[in-house]
Amino acid sequence: PNVLLLGAPGAGKGTQSRRLTEEFGIEHVTTGDALRGNKEMDISHLDLEYDTPGEYMDAGELVPDPVVNEIVKKALNDADGYVLDGYPRNESQTEYLDSITDLDVVLYLDVADDELVGRLTGRRVCEDCGATYHVDFDPPAEAGVCDDCGGDLYQREDDTEETARERINVYEENTQPVVDYFREKGVLVEIDGEQTPDEVWDDVRDAVAERA
Ligand code: AP5
Ligand code: ZN
Repeated sequence: PNVLLLGAPGAGKGTQSRRLTEEFGIEHVTTGDALRGNKEMDISHLDLEYDTPGEYMDAGELVPDPVVNEIVKKALNDADGYVLDGYPRNESQTEYLDSITDLDVVLYLDVADDELVGRLTGRRVCEDCGATYHVDFDPPAEAGVCDDCGGDLYQREDDTEETARERINVYEENTQPVVDYFREKGVLVEIDGEQTPDEVWDDVRDAVAERA
């Protein structure tokens, strides 16, 4: 299946995407991870505010559409079934996505704003396998060490309180309209993202299985 997973920063998109890839044997296409792997890429030829993706990311702003659209097009071309996470984030990305692929399921993880900041500032990520933990809600057995692979855990540079709040503002302004667009089209499956990760997963898995 081709799955689109929408939700605010910290809503649990990465957490649920990992499970979807395992359950359905599909690719995880995430613009956030792709951009984190290319933070220093030279985009000065676009002649915009900053010269690298990383400068946008560390400010909590959106990376310019031409950079992100290119990444998504290539990744979706290469995938036989995917869960797309972190894209589209504005109207123009939504139109671009419509022009390059067909979606089977659009899921929205609904989490209130005041819950998001705490999730983001407490997040820790494995530097080897990308598994995600939370210091309070989902701690690893041994502090700072990945349960899955033994790798070291780190904090993302954009998970400071200040940048997290800015990301949520940018989301409200640019990406909430994307959610509304799919809701008005009648294809949005809304999931209560404030349940435990396992409860959210039950809803996510059922929604995809029904439509795959
Ligand atoms: P990106 O990497 O896409 O970040 P994001 O959308 O802000 O989402 P996150 O990864 O922060 O959150 P998540 O929903 O995956 O949450 P997670 O599962 O980890 O984007 C980063 C930046 O890249 C952007 O700011 C922008 O600059 C740029 N960018 C990316 N895509 C772009 C695009 N299309 N266009 C332009 N720019 C783009 O969960 C969070 C925490 O909560 C974890 O610690 C987890 O353990 C915990 N948790 C998860 N589920 C639960 C639960 N049910 N209960 C309690 N805790 C939970
Ligand atoms: Zn790991």
